[in-house]
Amino acid sequence: MSISPAPPYASFADLEREALACTRCPLAATRTQVVFGAGDAGADLMFVGEGPGEQEDATGVPFVGRAGQLLTTLIEGIGLSRAEVYIANVVKCRPPGNRDPQPLEIDACRPYLEAQVGFIRPKVIVTLGNFATKLLLDTKVGITKLRGQEFAYGADAVLVPTLHPSAVLRTGGRNIADSRADFVVAKRALARAAAAGAGG
Ligand code: URA
Repeated sequence: MSISPAPPYASFADLEREALACTRCPLAATRTQVVFGAGDAGADLMFVGEGPGEQEDATGVPFVGRAGQLLTTLIEGIGLSRAEVYIANVVKCRPPGNRDPQPLEIDACRPYLEAQVGFIRPKVIVTLGNFATKLLLDTKVGITKLRGQEFAYGADAVLVPTLHPSAVLRTGGRNIADSRADFVVAKRALARAAAAGAGG
């Protein structure tokens, strides 16, 4: 996946309107609501998770459960707030019972994520876990081999894979330190992009 030059929607609001009414895959039948994304649609830093869980499905907001609390802490740990970044998911509707999203569901939802990235044009994308990393980097390599490294994304963005906060919560310890380190990598990439943008 790469940054599309012109998303096929007139505006970000049009994109959101279409996504909120989506029936492209079977998840539409079991969701409570579509979890489109949240934050600043002009952000330089974007996070991409896997898919909504129970609390996200109930509220319509990504990453509000326990994993979300950890994500918020990690974002604040690099001096930013959730309002200053954009947070989205690979699939916008909850897979029942929090099962993995299926290939058909990922394919159906992919144009929404591509268009989100196309409108936002973030300078740095942090992929949270295997699903987002494999989709955006078009790779089969697992997250533990890729995390904390910088990859070119499109013409001028940088992608930094990190562990999914749910996985970090399950295993704790060392993984929390790894996550913090990965967020610092993203923060440095952001600072470099800002300096380049300022002509420095
Ligand atoms: N896990 C995700 O991948 N996304 C959410 O929005 C919440 C939990």
